[in-house]
Amino acid sequence: MSTPRRPLIVPSVLPADFAKLGEDVQALEKAGVDRIQWDVMDGQFVPNITMGPDIIASVRPLVELGFEAHLMVVRPEGMLDRWVTAGCELIIVHAETCMHLHRTLGAIRDLGVRSGVAVNPATPLSAVQHVLDQLDLLLVMTVNPGFGGQRFLASMEPKIAEAARLIKDSGFSIELEVDGGISPDTIGVVARAGATTFCAGSAMFADRNRLSERVQELRAAASAASGADQTERS
Ligand code: DX5
Repeated sequence: MSTPRRPLIVPSVLPADFAKLGEDVQALEKAGVDRIQWDVMDGQFVPNITMGPDIIASVRPLVELGFEAHLMVVRPEGMLDRWVTAGCELIIVHAETCMHLHRTLGAIRDLGVRSGVAVNPATPLSAVQHVLDQLDLLLVMTVNPGFGGQRFLASMEPKIAEAARLIKDSGFSIELEVDGGISPDTIGVVARAGATTFCAGSAMFADRNRLSERVQELRAAASAASGADQTERS
């Protein structure tokens, strides 16, 4: 019998007010989120362009929260140390952008931080099945990356369940995160499928005056769906 992990709520700050980014991140910490996801986009792997390590470093001293860098960039191996210096404890690269994924994940761990790999909706999990020993987190995208506010792809549910089985059968301790269109309406289906970490952008920032309520709503919906609020899964 496995005891489901407590659901982790990890907001993306893509929808934040970049003129008050520090305040928005402090408000998220106060609201009780578990980590912050920085959506790094280079305008090549995805159409959008967002932020570099200096932006992240400017916010680092303002909160205690862990930071994860979601690198939606071509050639992520070129600047891995910069994200660590900026204050990220977890670096997520895309399987689609790494010519040598096994080596890149090892390089991330060699920097003393946790390693993650993200897979786009069209990318099969076979792309990561031979690097599970190098992984601390698997991120299954439930939208095509590049922008916030997109519609959740329900067709990803079987893939999330397959990822959960792959992780369980591997025996490795790997967080299963989902990202894209995650809201109180969609978090249940992905939690039931086996996701344990939930990245939400627009759902988190829907009402800045209700951040802590939204965190509680998301966590409660995920716990209820996954049975994490029960002592043991039957
Ligand atoms: C999309 C990003 C997601 C996105 C999530 O490329 O990786 O993190 O910002 O935003 P929502 O929750 O609005 O889909």
